[in-house]
This record gives sequence, structure tokens and C-alpha cells, in this order.
Amino acid sequence: MNRRILLAAAAALPFLAVGPAPAAAGSRACVDSPDTALRVCIAVDARGPSYQVVRNGREVIRRSALGLSLEGDGPAQVNRIERIERAYADQTWEQPWGEQRLVRDRHNEMRVRLAGPAGARPYEVVVRAFDDGFGFRYDVPAAGPVEVLDEATEFNFAGRYDAWWYPARERERDEYLYTRTDLDAVSLAETPFTLQGEGLYLSVHEAALVDYASMNLRRTGPGAFKADLMPWSDGVRVRRDGAFVTPWRVVLVGESAGALADSRLVLNLNEPNRLGDVSWVKPTKYVGVWWEMHLNRSTWGGGPTHGATTANVRRYIDFAAENGFGGVLAEGWNTGWDGDWIANGDKFSFTQAHPDFDLAGLADYARQRGVGLIGHHETGGAVENYERQLDAALDLYAGAGVRAVKTGYVKPNGTIVHPGPDGATQSEWFAGQYMVRHHQKVAEAAAARHISIDAHEPVKDTGLRRTWPNLVSREGARGQEFNAWGRPTNPPEHVTILPFTRLLAGPMDYTPGIFDLTFGKAKVEERVQSTLATQLALYVVIYSPVQMAADLPENYAARPDAFQFIRDVPVDWETSKTLAGEIGDYVVVARRQRGGADWFLGAVTDETARRVPVTLDFLEPGRRYEAQIYRDGPGADYVSNPYAFETARRVVTAHDRLELALAPGGGQAIRFRALD
Ligand code: NOJ
Ligand code: CA
Repeated sequence: MNRRILLAAAAALPFLAVGPAPAAAGSRACVDSPDTALRVCIAVDARGPSYQVVRNGREVIRRSALGLSLEGDGPAQVNRIERIERAYADQTWEQPWGEQRLVRDRHNEMRVRLAGPAGARPYEVVVRAFDDGFGFRYDVPAAGPVEVLDEATEFNFAGRYDAWWYPARERERDEYLYTRTDLDAVSLAETPFTLQGEGLYLSVHEAALVDYASMNLRRTGPGAFKADLMPWSDGVRVRRDGAFVTPWRVVLVGESAGALADSRLVLNLNEPNRLGDVSWVKPTKYVGVWWEMHLNRSTWGGGPTHGATTANVRRYIDFAAENGFGGVLAEGWNTGWDGDWIANGDKFSFTQAHPDFDLAGLADYARQRGVGLIGHHETGGAVENYERQLDAALDLYAGAGVRAVKTGYVKPNGTIVHPGPDGATQSEWFAGQYMVRHHQKVAEAAAARHISIDAHEPVKDTGLRRTWPNLVSREGARGQEFNAWGRPTNPPEHVTILPFTRLLAGPMDYTPGIFDLTFGKAKVEERVQSTLATQLALYVVIYSPVQMAADLPENYAARPDAFQFIRDVPVDWETSKTLAGEIGDYVVVARRQRGGADWFLGAVTDETARRVPVTLDFLEPGRRYEAQIYRDGPGADYVSNPYAFETARRVVTAHDRLELALAPGGGQAIRFRALD
């Protein structure tokens, strides 16, 4: 059964035209958000088409160019608005799984047709204005093959802002620490690109990146940015055949950092579920042969130190079964991957297991114990090799009852090779159109077999999980793995930045839950830079429907007091709210379990200790809850005393207030168990 249902009364007719359609032509047309605070205007003048954004009468985005440059277009350009069509929507749709079950999509739409003299290619700009931001896309008519040489879209900010960003198109793809700088210190930035200033929080991103190139932002002048699409190796940005729409260009606008995090605008701009009944997509917690290899205690490659042996994986299956986890990941199970992540991806086999790894036997054993294996396809960036084996690889897993596969694309950015039309080798960026197409192919091939995908080194998320709900999670930022490598590890502020940057794009497989924070390292920048309580809080702060308990079973066995929270915390939510937070300082998130009455809270801080008051008015009025509190103990400090930890219990209601005491690098996790 398709679990996606429309609930609002207007659902049967979600789009109703409210203006004269088509409206009179002119040179300027505007659309307001439903609350009328935000106004997006499109204009055409001698310099070409542009847009401008005003919020409560104040300019937020100055005149910014619009347009695409297509191969073969002559000098004649669009110079007038030929037609305007308007619509509005107010509908509520249901996510099959997610951070929030019911999502309201309320917006005003304006579709503007731009035209010009003979020879100018007409096209449409579709704008949707929401209370929490806006999006626009190009709708381009074309007959036959077409090449996008450039996209003119600008984002010219009015006023002074700081930006949270890292450089795009660098070697490690999206795995960089964010820095906060003046907007004018930015060079080329990845999105979501988050700004703070003028009493506002903005974030520029894109939605529905399908068969197109991923967008970065290049600074072109004071406060001025231009879309920079990751090109093919020959410089062409995008190749399409026939009419096409671009991804939505999105700007979230809020008066608090939390307003950005709680926006569902990116999802709303994606197409509804195309997979129908997706009850086979299972949000789950998982464990696996993973952290031990990142700590160099076992290896991906075969031989005496091989990690993914039948015996070792059985140990993790037992641990998962005993603790209620649904999945067990086994990396390094296949031949050809000799341990070097990058050098020889074209030799990886996706069907041949090492002799000491019995896939069928383990799958059976897992099934008996009520656990599922999570498959692993590290490609080493050798995409052609993977695509050649894709069907056989997925068939093998599907036959063994594997319902989720983690993929990986470890290779320096810009070195994804494939044969070009003339047989010569071409090298592509990790998120150009070539890779966007590849990930789409994997998503669809996996969906056909009822397999979910969790991609590492992915193309950034743009909300495609709405359309293909088997795209459950992805990496796309510095995850916990960096905390094993020590060069240096993630500073405490990293997890207070992610909710307002990377996580605006969608779920992240951060792999929280490290309990042995020091693993023999003396220097703080060589081990996990957090307290124990923080590791619990991350299960709530960082949303993902697949959430790893990443540490070794013996480290959980040593801390049953803290481990209880990981056993209890769900991965699928009825609703989610960011209660407080400032980017790079701290964040407090509360989520209500889906299909249950319990609430869960997670709070993390940067290197600064703080006391954060929280009113519990998110709890159901009139209900009593037992607050099961997991917090930093006396003297806790991520540098000097990371294991100081305590638990407490008290009965609370929606009228109560708590003060969360967070140690330096600390955190707090609370389960509010409904009592009546
Ligand atoms: C990098 C991924 O992020 C990590 O999770 C994985 O273990 C390694 N690549 C090997 O595939
Ligand atoms: Ca990675």
C-alpha cells in the first residue's frame, strides 16, 4: 500500500489558480509568500532578466541575474515578460519515514515566461515563495540535444553577513571543516551555504538535483555570488536532450538558526514518491565491522588481520540481536580491495567474497536472529567498474535478503575517470552531471530490488529522498571517521555547525556513539573531541534514519549506563523541533518518536561550557513523563575529563523547565518516557 496520503481538505485540488492566468505581459512581476513577509520579483531590463528579494519591506537579495547560456544560442536575448501564471498550494503530505511525518507545503507560485526578438530562445522561470524562503527553477524548451555552457544565476546579498562555508572543488570533496568568515572572504563555496547577519539567517542550496550538474557559489564581488555548475571535463556544464527543468535554486530565510533547521522547503520542492509502497525501506540502528578498521585494529583487505570474517561478523550480529539493532554492516568483505582505498578500484569485485567471509551463511544467521546484513560497495571511485557489475552485485545482495547497501566513492575530487566519446579517458568531478547520473542509476537499480542506499562521498543531498525514499542517508561532510584518523580530528564546534549547514540538505550518516573516546591517544586533537554524553546527544541532534552505534561491542559492554540511551533512541520521528541554538556554539533538538508518545532531546555545545534553559512546552499538555537524563558529570571536560558522566531521573510535565548544564565539548541526552 502506498503510505503517502494527502490529508488536507484541499488535497484533491492542491493547486488552484488565484490570479488571472495568463496575466498581462510587462517587465516586472512579483510573488509574495503566503504570510506576505517575503516578496520575490522578476524583472527584465536592458541588462537582461533578474530577480530581487525583499522581506518585510527590506531588501535581502539585490538585483541578481537570471538565465542560462546554451550552446548555439545567438546574440538575441529575452527582453520581456510574455506571460505570467499564478497558483498556490496548501497541502500536507506524509513522509514514509523521516524527521517529521506530516509536512505542510504552503506556497504561492509564479510562472513567468520570458521571450525576446526572433532568434531568442524563450524560457520560463518558476518561482515558489514560502514563509521560510523561496525557490526558483528554469523550465527550458529544447528540441534535441542541448548543452548548458553556463548558468547566469546570481545571489547578490544586501547588507553585511558572515558565512559558514568550506571551499568547493577541493580534493576531499565535501569533507572539510566549516569556517566562519566575512561574506567577502569566500571564494568558491559548496551549498548549503549559510549566512548570518542583518538579524537574519539565510541558506542557499538547491533542490531536486536530477540529471544536472551540482551548483557551487563563486564570489564575484562584494556580497555578490554566481552559480558555478561543476562542469564535465570538457567544460560543458550540462548535457540534456529535449526540454528540461533545472534543479530549484533555493534560499531559506529565517530569524533564528533553528528556523533554517526546521524548514522542510527543500523536501517540498522535490517530486512526490515515485516508488509507491516503500514499506520495505526500514529505518534502523546498526553496528558493524567498521570502527575497528579505522582504528587500524583490523583491515579491509584479506589476510591474518582481515576484519570482515564470518566469525567476526557473527559477533556483531549477536551484539545487534541482543541490543535490538536492525542492521550489521560488513566492510571489506569482497576481493580486489587490498586495503588501498584509492589505487585499484577497477579491480574491486562486487560479487566475489574473501574465502573467510560466508555471505549466504551470515545472511541466514542474521535472519534467524532477527537482524539484517547491511551490504557494502566501496567503489574506490572506479565508477565504470562498479556499473559493469551493478546488476549482479545488487542481485547477489537481494538474493541474500540484504535490504540496505552502503556505497563509497573514495577518490580525490576531479579524478572519477571514464572513457569519453573518442575513447580518451576523461576525469570528472564527484558531483558533476556524470556522477549525478551515476547515483541516480544506482538508486533506481537498488529500488527495483527493494534495497536502500546510504552513500558515502556522495553528491550532496537535495531532497531526493522524497521522490526515491530508498535514498535513506548519505555522508557528504566530515563524519566520525575523521576522529579515528587524528590529522586533526573534528573540533567540538563541528557538530554545532552541521545542523545549520550540511543537515539542511538532508540526513547524514555521521556514525555517532564512540564510547572509548581516547583509544590510547594523549593529544586531544588525535582522538574524539567530545564528552561521553555528547556522543549520546548526537543520536538526536544529527538526523538520519540509519544511525550507527559505531564503537566496538566491548566498549558498549563497559558502559551499560550510557549505552541504554542508544538502545532506546528511535530513528524515525513523528516531529522534530530545534529548541535553541547558535551556529558554531550550541544546539538543542527535540523529537517525538514516530508511532509512540516518547520525546527525545539532544543538546551539544562547542568548547565552551554553558547552561541552556529549556521549557518543556513541546510535551503533550496534561501528560506526565519520566525524564531519563544522560548528562556530563561533575568536572566533565572534553580535554581533561571526557568520561565524567551521570544519569538522573525525574517526573516532568509540559509546564516544567530544565536547565541543561553542558561541559566544554559536552552534551546532554534525555528520553521523556510517557507515563500515562
Ligand atoms: C570512507 C567512508 O566514509 C567510510 O565510512 C568507509 O569505511 C571507508 N571510506 C571505506 O569504504
Ligand atoms: Ca568519507
